[in-house]
Amino acid sequence: MNKAEEIKEIIKGLSPEEVLAVLAKSYEGEIVFSTSFGWEDQVISHMIFTKALPIKVFTLETGRLFPETYYVWNRTLETYQKPIHTYFPDAALLQEFVSAKGPNSFYESVENRKSCCGIRKVEPLNRALKGQKIWITGIRADQSTNREDMDWVEWDEAHQLVKVHPIFHWTLEDVKKYVATNNIPYNPLHDKGFPSIGCAPCTRAVREGEDFRAGRWWWEDQSKKECGLHDLEAKS
Ligand code: ADX
Ligand code: SF4
Repeated sequence: MNKAEEIKEIIKGLSPEEVLAVLAKSYEGEIVFSTSFGWEDQVISHMIFTKALPIKVFTLETGRLFPETYYVWNRTLETYQKPIHTYFPDAALLQEFVSAKGPNSFYESVENRKSCCGIRKVEPLNRALKGQKIWITGIRADQSTNREDMDWVEWDEAHQLVKVHPIFHWTLEDVKKYVATNNIPYNPLHDKGFPSIGCAPCTRAVREGEDFRAGRWWWEDQSKKECGLHDLEAKS
């Protein structure tokens, strides 16, 4: 049995709250949760913060987030009074890239876009995950067809750890209901047609019936639309 299967065996059948509590206890100091302040992530932050679980919550501050994302970030700090560890891009790498290519080069080519995501998200993520054993995310299966093919507990070869998506099987309705019932602060953009929220220049609203992720890097081919955080292209 590999590590992911071992962990899956321990947590199968548990509720998301129980999954977090069990893993926090077994992996204290080696378990982290990444939040982008989307409502899926707000659900998990709420579960962690209200139970004071020893799971380090972190965010990748790309420098290009929406004002609404900063707003909900601050609201989250006020509500729970718990730290959200922040990882910035490496200043030298970013300066060099923006000096050479300009601030909005991601619209010009997939290569530039991947370089930008690489500097603003992937490299800081590698720092955030260093030495960790469990990485919790807010990914849900029905966010995209790519994601439907994933498993809710999986081995991450690139980071040498186990990724766990506690609300993987929740629907959007489940998420909305949990947010409303628990009065959780959420990003106001969700009410304006943004189901998935990343960096401001690379996210737009979607129309009724459009794919959840249609508003992310909308100018690119469908197949290229992952930023490297979750390495899904290999599986698509
Ligand atoms: S992305 O790969 O397209 O950017 P998405 O926005 O769907 O990811 O979010 C999926 C999960 O990735 C979130 O639940 C969160 O755990 C993590 N994530 C995405 N963006 C960030 C970010 N800026 N900071 C921290 N975690 C993030
Ligand atoms: Fe850069 Fe856009 Fe990627 Fe954000 S989503 S890191 S702005 S290319």
